[in-house]
Amino acid sequence: MNFTKKHIWITGASSGIGKAVALKISKEKAHLILSGRNRQELENVAGICEKNGSQATVLPFDLGDEASVNAAASQVISTHKKLDALYHFGGISQRSFASETPLFVDRKIFEVNYFGTIALTKAILPEMIKSGGGHLAVTSSIVGKFGFPYRSSYSASKHALHGFFESLRAENVQHNIRVSVIIPGRIRTNISVNAINRDGKTHARMDEGQDNGMAAEKSAEIICRKLKQEKKEILVGGKEVIMVHIRRFLPFLYYRLSSKVKPL
Ligand SMILES: NC(=O)c1ccc[n+]([C@@H]2O[C@H](COP(=O)([O-])OP(=O)(O)OC[C@H]3O[C@@H](n4cnc5c(N)ncnc54)[C@H](OP(=O)(O)O)[C@@H]3O)[C@@H](O)[C@H]2O)c1
Repeated sequence: MNFTKKHIWITGASSGIGKAVALKISKEKAHLILSGRNRQELENVAGICEKNGSQATVLPFDLGDEASVNAAASQVISTHKKLDALYHFGGISQRSFASETPLFVDRKIFEVNYFGTIALTKAILPEMIKSGGGHLAVTSSIVGKFGFPYRSSYSASKHALHGFFESLRAENVQHNIRVSVIIPGRIRTNISVNAINRDGKTHARMDEGQDNGMAAEKSAEIICRKLKQEKKEILVGGKEVIMVHIRRFLPFLYYRLSSKVKPL
């Protein structure tokens, strides 16, 4: 898919990978809708997108609030004749052991990462189908492919996205709905700072592993190239992404490594 003149909705556009992808796409004269909760950050990103030659509309909403998700979807449907693509980057991570994490924290992670994401997708899908199809991309994680210490519900929420979006793809091929699942390894963003702990509060720390991750701008280059090709799975990151292959082809090694790796 060529981005030029396309109407593309990007969630998680106020920070990190989503912001870097928005800025990259904005160099190709697209019509962007930028979402997240932080209006001020979204306005800043929109300003740069416009300087880069794209039109950018800011639409803040909360993925963890169904009414807010539906209101945002209605607004986009009423103001855009056609939505060519919806790229989901909005999400939160976790820093706590499963045994110490109360259910309200598990639910919060699922509300944002899973239910918010699928609610938005379901809200725009009928219009996308009516208008001849479109491209959906959702951001999972390498821990959406295997379990990892300190990330139990985060990992589970990302596994759930694979199940949902693979099913959605299979159900809607005849409607020209294309689906890409983005699978990042460690990318240097504020994901660990914004992650929630067992109290539901922010972890508020840049973890060493995160800090040593791939730059968000570099990840955006790879992601955008593969989004254009509408790849079904987009694996992006450093040497840590090899764990996906180890889990698949050498499971005994994964079982040994996953119990020994430093969780942060
Ligand atoms: N960085 C990595 O190493 C890594 C690895 C694997 C997967 N991922 C995934 O990549 C995606 C982007 O993360 P990132 O690394 O760019 O982290 P980030 O810098 O923390 O960005 C997260 C984005 O999600 C938005 N968001 C969070 N909670 C939200 C809510 N309740 N409602 C609406 N928007 C919300 C944030 O916007 P507001 O704060 O404005 O709401 C922000 O734009 C996430 O899905 C994450 O799970 C990241």
